[in-house]
Amino acid sequence: MLDVRSDFPALNQKVHGQELIYLDSAATSLKPKCVIDRIQRHYQNETANVHRGIHYLSAEATRFFEETREAIQHFINADSEKECIFTKGTTDSINLVASSWGEKNLKKDDVIILSTMEHHSNIVPWQMLAQKKEANVIACPITKDGELDLEAYQKLFETYKDKIKMVSLVHISNTLGTINPIRELIDIAHQHGALFMVDAAQSVCHMPVDVQALDCDFLAFSAHKMFGPTGVGVLYGKRELLEKMPPYQGGGAMIERVSFEGTTFNQLPEKFEAGTPHIAGVIAFKSAIDYLLSLGFEEIQKHETSLLSYAQTKLQEIEGLKVIGTAKEKTSVISFSFDSIHPHDLGMILDQQGVAIRTGHHCTQPLMDFFNVPATSRASFSIYNTLEDVDKLVSSILKAKELL
Ligand code: ALA
Repeated sequence: MLDVRSDFPALNQKVHGQELIYLDSAATSLKPKCVIDRIQRHYQNETANVHRGIHYLSAEATRFFEETREAIQHFINADSEKECIFTKGTTDSINLVASSWGEKNLKKDDVIILSTMEHHSNIVPWQMLAQKKEANVIACPITKDGELDLEAYQKLFETYKDKIKMVSLVHISNTLGTINPIRELIDIAHQHGALFMVDAAQSVCHMPVDVQALDCDFLAFSAHKMFGPTGVGVLYGKRELLEKMPPYQGGGAMIERVSFEGTTFNQLPEKFEAGTPHIAGVIAFKSAIDYLLSLGFEEIQKHETSLLSYAQTKLQEIEGLKVIGTAKEKTSVISFSFDSIHPHDLGMILDQQGVAIRTGHHCTQPLMDFFNVPATSRASFSIYNTLEDVDKLVSSILKAKELL
């Protein structure tokens, strides 16, 4: 097992007088000291805007900022750093594609394929686009185990044929932990002439993601779920697609020349980066990537697999507890319902014992409808969790059972 708890200062505190057991990493991960220090160093010594100044600090900030872009290029194995656009996060990245690609390419009666297990951020931007263009959003069904229904997925292409212009699917479900066979799904979409966007928000911290091996057209993720700062994300896009897309937002940095007669736009990636970005966040994002890579995905996966299998065994021993999402391929996320106790009440009692889980619909209401529950309780594990954390979760749930 990994031994990294001392890298995370947030773990060194008590909540309601109890040791903090943080089981909400799918919402946002804790930050290692190297990331916190990097943010502080930027604001303390290096504050300057990027891509704008000739002075020393601005040149330094620009250098560090662009070093993160290179780190991301290597991290996801993009062909060029120009294919890596900084955004506010996964939601912003998906909105960028829906808005810019959609504006230019989607026509009346075209079809966008999503799935029942999508996060709202991979549903609503497409619905807004479809409404504007009089196009259709179709959700691929899932099975009762919470896996994508592959047969149904294939059938959608037979039914809608060349009307399907875009497939946008989640790599790992934030609510169920299901790992989708994304490479296979991409291949099928491409065989039928559709583009494919991957919502990788939950996968980039758990497994290596190689955009060239996947051959995805777009891929979105956020820094804050992979030990980096909030407010920073990435949109990867194939260069030939990004080149043809109109700018998403107008403002500084994204222009080549502005006049009242007409404005011309900057090249990639700046064409899509209007305004002053989250400079400190982007710079510290590199520290998060370096940290993650220093641990190595092999060790991370070993650690998280042990936690997942121990937690699954222990939770299933609790009478009245039902795990929701039992896919064969899963990451370290467990959603569950528990007797007639409302997840919200359970979450509050666990919180009193220092155990932080997420309760609610997890921004996946269509998924809640599918499982016919208003909400679930969700424990999500990361590199700093231990088997003792699982034991504490279990004993806290049993205590809640006594109290409620
Ligand atoms: N999407 C995040 C979650 O699953 C916020 O909690």
